[in-house]
Parts: sequence; structure tokens; C-alpha cells
Amino acid sequence: MKLYILLLPFIMGALAYEDMSDKVFLFPAPTASAHVTLKPAIKKSLQNVTMCLRSYTELTREYSLFSMAVSGADNAFLILPESPNVYTFILQEQSAFKTDPETLAWKHTCATWDSTTGVIQLWINGKLYPRKVSKKGATIGAETSIVLGQDQDTFGGGFNINQSFVGEISDVHMWDYNLTPDEMKGVISGHVKGNHINWNSLNYEIKGNVLVQPKLCCKSWDCASSKQEESIAG
Ligand SMILES: *[C@@H]1O[C@H](CO)[C@@H](O)[C@H](O)[C@H]1NC(C)=O
Ligand SMILES: *[C@@H]1O[C@H](CO)[C@@H](O)[C@H](O)[C@H]1NC(C)=O
Repeated sequence: MKLYILLLPFIMGALAYEDMSDKVFLFPAPTASAHVTLKPAIKKSLQNVTMCLRSYTELTREYSLFSMAVSGADNAFLILPESPNVYTFILQEQSAFKTDPETLAWKHTCATWDSTTGVIQLWINGKLYPRKVSKKGATIGAETSIVLGQDQDTFGGGFNINQSFVGEISDVHMWDYNLTPDEMKGVISGHVKGNHINWNSLNYEIKGNVLVQPKLCCKSWDCASSKQEESIAG
């Protein structure tokens, strides 16, 4: 009985939308294979984008935090921390953000892009770093490949162990518009959910050594979920 319950998410992963609000993906070891693919609710081209997620890692080398490829452009939307105080945000072209030194803790990252102006924003733990401009007027095609845990150097593949993610990822959300700073706060507290990718209704597929584990934490805001808030309130 218990075995069936444990296996169910793996069997249904590719088919069903799952509420992951109390879960994390655990990437236990560096590999050139282990990853999770995410499928958006609706296939559509994107001009304005917001992506948010939480991560927890000991890595000090470069790693891929979120990799979205389109055919012909493997770095259509890539968040690639390079070192503990440099984040690169790549929309085919690279923008490097100097960030505060990290402590070993859960971290909430949001990245936005507005095609009309090209303005990109990087938010870490609710702090907005100085904005930059990239790929004004561009469009991200509707046929995307979204990967957690690896950097795609081809559409859906071309992984490099030296850029693999090791640690925990949770609360991945994506929108086809730019969130306001107030909405951004709502994401951190768990009230605002993605309309393009929604962690509370996630269509995902695990490939290789990645585990779904319960979210184990936490008194602080940094890994709140809507469910935890309800239980605290109740
Ligand atoms: C993107 O956002 C801008 C506001 O900066 C808006 O004018 C534009 O219509 C939006 N584009 C799409 C495709 O929604
Ligand atoms: C990964 O890094 C190691 C050590 O620097 C290097 O020897 C190896 O060639 C790299 N692998 C790839 C696939 O880049």
C-alpha cells in the first residue's frame, strides 16, 4: 500500500498536474543527466516574463538554476549563478549581476524580462538589484524546453556536469507578464501563483537521480507555502 503511494508521483509525473506546495525536488549529486522537465499550462510565445523559484545549495561553482531553450536558441531564458556573488541572466546574450555574498540558506530568486523596453530585473530574497536591459523587442517562441538541474546546450540536452545543480529546488512559478513589486511579495509569502507554470499545479517529468521530498523547514518567510500559512493561521 505504502509502496504504491510512494511510486504514484513518478508514474503520474508526465500525465498529471500535481500540487507540489509541500514538496521540493532534491538533486543529490552532480551528474550530466539528472534533471526535471516542466511543461507550461498553455503553449504560447512570450514577450513579458517573470520566473520565481526557491533554491538551497552548497555549490560555489557555476550552476544552472533555471534553463529554458527554444529551437535554435538553447539559452532563451537562463539563470546561471556563476559564483557566490555573481548571477548571470542570459536571454541569448549575457547580463551579469553583482549580488550580495551568500549565506547557506534557502534563497528566493525572481527574474523578469519586458520585451517592450528590454528591462530585466533580478530579485533575490525580495531585494531588487540594479536593473539592466537585454533583447529589446525579442520574442521567446512557443515551443520551449524548460529544465531544472541542468544547463541546456541543445534543445532538451547538451548537459555539462560542471553546470549541474546540486541541492533543493521548490516553488517554481512562471508568468507571461511582469509582476509588480507587491505581487513579488505575494509570491514570497506563497499567495501569488504562476499562470504559465504553477508549482501548486505542476506538470513535470523526472529524468535520472532526482527525488521528490517533503519540504522540511521552516519558521521563516524564506520557504513559506500557502498551506503552511493556513495551518499557522488556523
Ligand atoms: C508587455 O508589457 C508592456 C508594458 O511594459 C506592455 O505595453 C505590452 O503590451 C506587453 N506585451 C505583451 C505581449 O503582453
Ligand atoms: C568539468 O571540470 C573538470 C575539472 O575542471 C574538467 O576536467 C572537465 O573537463 C569538465 N567537464 C566538462 C564536460 O566540461
